[in-house]
Amino acid sequence: MKKILIAALLCGAPALADTVDGLRTPDEFAGIESEADRSVALFEEMLVVIEHPRCMNCHPVDNSPRQGMQMQMHQPPVVRGVADFGAPGMRCTTCHGSENVAFATGSGSIPGHSPWQLAPLSMGWIGKSAAEICAQLKDPERNGGKTLADLHEHNAEDGLVGWGWHPGDGREPVPGTQEIFGQLTQAWIDTGAACPAG
Ligand code: HEC
Ligand code: HEC
Repeated sequence: MKKILIAALLCGAPALADTVDGLRTPDEFAGIESEADRSVALFEEMLVVIEHPRCMNCHPVDNSPRQGMQMQMHQPPVVRGVADFGAPGMRCTTCHGSENVAFATGSGSIPGHSPWQLAPLSMGWIGKSAAEICAQLKDPERNGGKTLADLHEHNAEDGLVGWGWHPGDGREPVPGTQEIFGQLTQAWIDTGAACPAG
């Protein structure tokens, strides 16, 4: 009994030890010899962050933000409106302040950050494949005119991205840290910013 338990712990150990709060650091990929394969593996690790509901909820391919771990429709119903920050009279900032605000009663919070708005349609991710997300992230026509260096800076420094690790009471944070996400992005760029197939 005890032996089985130890064996199970040993088998599980590498995967656990190699992550920081569920995100692997770039040096975990050093053993992959082919640079292109290493680049793809690094991007797939970036997806652990990118495809988390904290991020996806603001990156829909339609006109409504999503909520929660199940990414259900936003309640109350709101729309993208002009310039992604809501309809007149129902702006995102009508309810979302510059920081998270805990509900006065019970647990939970209204998320907040300045600015608070939907990602533009060209940056929508929900339902897209890894290859599609990767291609559009690199495409200045769709990523807001960003170079790869700008994209790194966005991932490493942007406050709205950073909110994912500090999402307020009642919300699960994105795995890892923003610092590691920035390092993964840089390592992916340094290895040629390759995209997964398909
Ligand atoms: C409150 C809504 C919101 C949340 C939450 C959010 N984003 Fe965004 N995101 C935006 C907006 C708005 C832009 C456009 C701003 C810009 O281009 O500078 C954007 C742009 C981006 C871009 C630029 C390139 C592109 O093609 O999409 C990346 C990368 C990105 N977000 C990553 C993330 C990650 C990773 C998370 C979670 C850790 C996240 N975002 C969470 C609203 C959000
Ligand atoms: C009438 C008030 C109101 C308006 C307007 C509003 N929201 Fe919200 N939003 C909320 C509340 C309240 C929550 C928290 C729900 C909960 O977690 O219980 C929320 C949650 C969210 C979440 C979920 C975060 C997560 O990961 O779970 C996102 C994303 C979001 N709103 C984006 C937006 C955007 C973008 C707009 C403007 C287009 C907007 N909201 C307009 C009240 C509003």
